[in-house]
Amino acid sequence: MVEQARNTRDSATAKDRSSSRSSPKADLVVVANRLPVRHATTNGTGEWQPSPGGLVSALTSVLQNRNGLWIGWPGTSEYQTSPKSYEGIRLKAVDISPEEYENFYLGFSNATLWPLYHDAIRAPTFHRHWWTAYTQVNMRFAVSVAEEVAPGGSVWIHDYQLQLVPQMLRQLRPDVRIGFFLHIPFPPIELFMQLPWRREILAGLLGADLIGFQVTQAASNFSRMARRQSAATGTDSLLDYNGRRIRVGAFPISVDCEQIVTLANDPFIRARAKEIRKDLGDPELVLLGVDRLDYTKGIQQRIKAVSEMFQDGSLTPGKHVMVQVAVPSRETDAHYERERHQLEQAVSEMNGEYGQVGSPVVHYLHQNLPFAELVALYLVADVMLVTPFRDGMNLVAKEYVMCRTDLTGRLVLSEFAGAAAELRGAFMVNPHDLEGVKEAIRLAVNAGPKEAKDRMTRMRRKTYRRDVYDWAASFLLALQQTAM
Ligand code: G6P
Repeated sequence: MVEQARNTRDSATAKDRSSSRSSPKADLVVVANRLPVRHATTNGTGEWQPSPGGLVSALTSVLQNRNGLWIGWPGTSEYQTSPKSYEGIRLKAVDISPEEYENFYLGFSNATLWPLYHDAIRAPTFHRHWWTAYTQVNMRFAVSVAEEVAPGGSVWIHDYQLQLVPQMLRQLRPDVRIGFFLHIPFPPIELFMQLPWRREILAGLLGADLIGFQVTQAASNFSRMARRQSAATGTDSLLDYNGRRIRVGAFPISVDCEQIVTLANDPFIRARAKEIRKDLGDPELVLLGVDRLDYTKGIQQRIKAVSEMFQDGSLTPGKHVMVQVAVPSRETDAHYERERHQLEQAVSEMNGEYGQVGSPVVHYLHQNLPFAELVALYLVADVMLVTPFRDGMNLVAKEYVMCRTDLTGRLVLSEFAGAAAELRGAFMVNPHDLEGVKEAIRLAVNAGPKEAKDRMTRMRRKTYRRDVYDWAASFLLALQQTAM
């Protein structure tokens, strides 16, 4: 492991020596808890790979055009030196100690804020020492940005792990424009009020010039909360605070539509889709779920609904098959470990009950699949199940829709995903209502080609209109237009 770390460090250093020689101040700094690269081990060899997802491509292209820098945590404390550049943009790592990993990352970020902001699906835990670590790490990020941003430059801060950075940075660098985007939901007042440090979090966010959310509901939850618990006055979209004007709004994130359509039309990926279908036993209909293995995603509830449908005869083993991909996530967290065990038990019960030798009713993968393989699965899926209890946006829903270039395929979508505000052609469900979920799946399974086509056409038209590049551009334009 040590040797591996050294090799990785050496190759990264050699590759990036040229870029670290001079480091001019950046006109645009993106700050996120994670860097756009992650350390992965393939065939026993450790290497830095781009983090998956459209967000990285979108922000990378923006940064490339604007002398940009990305500041973030390399995601591991073992490899002290991460690459200094990626696709022509400079990277700067902020290190987090093992103790901070416990208290800042697993603790305050993922056991206090994450459940609280997701409707308290799990009870949030409040600890003062977690809060202390959160403020310390946020300050480290703020100082790191303050050192790197050019005079009058712009800073775009991302997500719930860094909500104090806007105010901290403003104190250090009042000359820069500060934008903040929350990728997850912002909770209703009654829930946010539970947070012992609610005023501090609000003050932290109000340090920004522009505060963006996925949907208008979240933006208005925030503005109402700010008016109630801070000195801010104004409307849901414009707040006056400490002599400054702050813009608040919804900027729904999207996917890289062109890239997905290209992959979906790729003959190799289409052949792979056929192969997968064959491996599944050429069933009449395939249901698919793809989620990060997280208790907010409602995966167990979905498995229960499908299982009951096999029991009541609305689905037939052999004729109907489900595939569930659960992407490993936050595996050092006890809640996530428990969720995995319960889910795997539910999967095995369902197969035990309704499967046959060589043909299980649900195929379960606990893996990080390459994106091309996911696209092949989206092509196989006649019915896509996206049923989170609460989700900021849910890009899987948009990826699926973009893959269905032949206008087939049906989407069952939770009302509590941000994507529901745009994908009105989906079969909507309340994921807490098991009978309702079953009914929506039944409707989706039995929908005729004409209905499916009409619904998919609506959803694709809407998604195509604004891809992830438009999302980044519109946020940065709005930031540029804020008063200084
Ligand atoms: C969500 C959050 C991101 C986070 C990602 C993966 O999408 O909004 O901020 O990076 O989950 O979680 P992790 O804890 O592995 O960074």
